[in-house]
Amino acid sequence: MDYTKKMMQADALKGKTIVVTGGGSGLGKAMSAYFLELGANVVITSRNEDKLNSVQSALSHLGGKILAVPCDVRHYEQVEALVKAANDAFGQVDILINNAAGNFISPTERLSSNAFDTIIDIVLKGTKNCTLAFGKDWIAKKETEKVVLNIVTTYAWTGSAYVVPSATAKAGVLAMTRSLAVEWAKYGMRFNAIAPGPFPTKGAWDRLLPGDLKEKFDLAKKVPLQRVGAHQELANLAAYLVSDFSAYINGEVITIDGGEWLKGAGQFNLLEDIPEELWDMLEAMIRAKKSQ
Ligand code: HXC
Ligand code: NAP
Repeated sequence: MDYTKKMMQADALKGKTIVVTGGGSGLGKAMSAYFLELGANVVITSRNEDKLNSVQSALSHLGGKILAVPCDVRHYEQVEALVKAANDAFGQVDILINNAAGNFISPTERLSSNAFDTIIDIVLKGTKNCTLAFGKDWIAKKETEKVVLNIVTTYAWTGSAYVVPSATAKAGVLAMTRSLAVEWAKYGMRFNAIAPGPFPTKGAWDRLLPGDLKEKFDLAKKVPLQRVGAHQELANLAAYLVSDFSAYINGEVITIDGGEWLKGAGQFNLLEDIPEELWDMLEAMIRAKKSQ
């Protein structure tokens, strides 16, 4: 099975302009590359201008046009400048991907107030800033057929110890996704989210599995399908969700995690460690209870 194949038909996103926050690395870069291949114009944005410029050069041969615009999504005035830069370059923006994030593992009691705020500001406030700035612009211009796709995590609904600011912020982003899917549908906007399981990226792995934790916690083992995700799988799903093919999908969060969070959730899922022979004995013991 080749799950790294490209799913969409050529030119599926031709004529669309897509802004990808955090588009200069990891999953944001993978999505941006695929959107370009499908004919879209893509604006990549994050704080690091040098990184953005080198990714712009590296991806400029792929099809659509790419523009790098430095922007710290925590600051509304910078996001407004991003809206203007994207509109000036491409006439209009059709799709916003809120992908930028900050995260690190830490016991919560070790966090300073500013450390907690930093994650909330990037993830929740950053998503709010971009959503509000682009949304207001679309509403003011009466432009329709817009899509916002938010990248969350599966712990947005389960919560997770040791990444509490991130879990708190992602839960807020999920609530925003579902709320605006209803409220702003009348303006011709759709809102959806993707909740990825483990997809190896430098940004996430260096902060969530530092040092030899990578060897100690093999994340693939937590996944029923026994592997991590491939970037193209995520890019395929994102391309579908922003394309016209998903025009009736609104307010949805799609999990792409090989079954990981459900494995953690099921009360008796740990029984998979029981060997086949032991099941004969256990079955006999349970059946014997009937006659007592
Ligand atoms: C405790 C920490 C800390 C740590 C930083 N801080 N790292 N506290 N433990 N490991 C504190 C600092 O001391 C400071 O508080 C505050 O956080 C802000 O730190 P800065 O370094 O000044 O912030 P900044 O330069 O804005 O950098 C933000 C960052 C950084 C989040 C800290 O890691 C970053 O730039 N991340 C972006 C990329 C990223 O995180 N990608 C991973 C996404 S993975 P004080 O009080 O000292 O001022 C993901 C989900 C994955 O989101 C799910 C996997 C299954
Ligand atoms: P990543 O490469 O670290 O991506 C995060 C991006 O956000 C970086 O490009 C970073 O660029 C940008 N960013 C951070 N702070 C910013 C700010 N204030 N303003 C603008 N941009 C900012 O990590 P990733 O793994 O690809 O993560 C991408 C998304 O997937 C995130 O939303 C993450 O929560 C989600 N996710 C990832 C996984 C996984 O396994 N990888 C699992 C679940 C969810 P700069 O540093 O240049 O600003």
